[in-house]
Amino acid sequence: MSSQEIPEEKNLPTEQETEHGSVAVADENPFADPGLPPHEHRIQDIDERAAKRSERAIAFMFTLSMLATVGFIASFVAIPADKSIYVWPIGHISGLNFALGLTLGVALFCIGAGAVHWARTLMSDVEVADDRHPIEAEPEVRAKVMADFRAGAQESQFGRRKLIRNTMFGALALVPLSGVVLLRDLGPLPEDKLRHTKWAKGKKLVNMNTHEPLRPSDVQVGSLTFAMPDGMSEHDHDFQVQIAKAALMIVRIQPENIKDKRELEWSHEGIVAYSKICTHVGCPISLYEQQTHHVLCPCHQSTFDLSDGARVIFGPAGHALPQLRIGVNEEGYLEALGDFEEPVGPAFWERG
Ligand code: FES
Repeated sequence: MSSQEIPEEKNLPTEQETEHGSVAVADENPFADPGLPPHEHRIQDIDERAAKRSERAIAFMFTLSMLATVGFIASFVAIPADKSIYVWPIGHISGLNFALGLTLGVALFCIGAGAVHWARTLMSDVEVADDRHPIEAEPEVRAKVMADFRAGAQESQFGRRKLIRNTMFGALALVPLSGVVLLRDLGPLPEDKLRHTKWAKGKKLVNMNTHEPLRPSDVQVGSLTFAMPDGMSEHDHDFQVQIAKAALMIVRIQPENIKDKRELEWSHEGIVAYSKICTHVGCPISLYEQQTHHVLCPCHQSTFDLSDGARVIFGPAGHALPQLRIGVNEEGYLEALGDFEEPVGPAFWERG
């Protein structure tokens, strides 16, 4: 049946119009709107004392939320991060995490519970029916929306119930503070730590594998030796942080094969020391090609020429490897003559 054949609602057959009269057809429109049941007033609508009780309950929840937020901040400041407590039935957990979770949960829950209780007991619950209307907002519609908004504000008693309004504003204003205090964990600031490593004037170069100080005779042509500053121990709490900046690779090149003048000055009898940390994204460099004096980073194949200031000759790295100026001390051990002159690794540079 096409849409034109569908009888219009007003033309639906009635019992009198049906030829054979065998089908009972109701007189009324079968799709008629059943309407709304009669409105039932709540106790708060008819008893001002009950309304007052609700008001106090809502204000109590918003106040509790404020106290919980203050408790969140106090917990963050007062409870040590390594404090452990027993909570049944979970067992031993971090006291700080427990306190932060509990107080933030209570703060948010009380705001929600207060808002729901307010809507259910004090705001108008009169059923409203509105006709469907075109989407475009005519000036009259906008005026009506504003009128409805004002009426809604009036019916919600937002202006009249100042205790609720003020405590709700207080609770909403305090909750974001929870996030603000957590910003403390972003610190402390790195200050100039990115610019310095454990290398300093007089620090001996120690073989990373044997932990023995290196003499020039330990570094042979064609070999690649990894070194760290004397005094560092793998048991140091910040060993990984420090070695990630201070790791060194040492090679010996015939001095006449060193093309870069500064590199030659900073070397000792052809022994050159460079940062082992790739300037692309910080992988440790480990492959050395003794004929060409190229070192290759295994991560993205950046290649550096150690005979020419460790400049990049291939790959995505954007900077030459930093060189460490070295010499020999009175005991005949290789030593640093200062720290790297530029920050090692990639992060510092890519920060823009
Ligand atoms: S980290 Fe070395 S090439 Fe990418």
